[in-house]
Amino acid sequence: MEKERRLIIAGNWKMNKTVAESIDLVNGLKRELANVKEVDIVVCPAYTALSEVSKSILDSQNIRLGAQNMSENNVGAFTGEIAAVMLKEFSVRYVILGHSERRQYQKESDELIARKALAAHTASLKPIVCVGETLAEREGGLMEKVLETQVRGSLAGLSREQMEETIVAYEPVWAIGTGKTASSAQAQEAHAFIRAQLVKLFDETTARRVRIQYGGSVKAANARELMGQPDVDGALVGGAALEVRSFADIIKNSI
Ligand code: PGA
Repeated sequence: MEKERRLIIAGNWKMNKTVAESIDLVNGLKRELANVKEVDIVVCPAYTALSEVSKSILDSQNIRLGAQNMSENNVGAFTGEIAAVMLKEFSVRYVILGHSERRQYQKESDELIARKALAAHTASLKPIVCVGETLAEREGGLMEKVLETQVRGSLAGLSREQMEETIVAYEPVWAIGTGKTASSAQAQEAHAFIRAQLVKLFDETTARRVRIQYGGSVKAANARELMGQPDVDGALVGGAALEVRSFADIIKNSI
């Protein structure tokens, strides 16, 4: 399948896996995916496993490291926080920002997420900025309004060059961890809407270069159809990223 943009498939391990379990998982992925060249593959373990997973993939040609969050600040008295430069020490290349779980439980705002995205770029980390509507918002006819506000707010202040190096993840909250996937048509519609916002905020060329991932109950069985949509440029995978077999199959089925 010829895609306009290179696919990027990331596993968000969330608060799962000890260090030993993380090493097992990434070693299994290395074995299964050694020959895959067509997709950017990213694993996002917990902070505590970044160091060891980073060592495990030193010799991998195709698996890259991501973090699940970072501070908007660079250094100082911010107890419990982790700065971008600290992630860089472990060769982290990507960082998930504004995941709906953080928007919900940590009350992260679009404004905070935008500051984090700028801080990530300053440290040469590529942010994966998450947006998505809840079920109530969708049913209330507010999907477009919510996506527009989140896209505008969470990407505020980025230059065109920075935007091109930013990944947007469309994750409808009602599809995360619920087993309910957006249909490929629903995903395509939302992705096209998000890209249209990027045209308004930046320009046509920039918008065309940005990769937009779909996230929410992605599994091997639905990956091919979702990735086949013209504006779906990858996936952000939660539950199915926790096992070698299911994550590897998602990637193989997407090629
Ligand atoms: P899920 O999670 O694949 O388990 O639905 C996706 C995510 O939260 O990134």
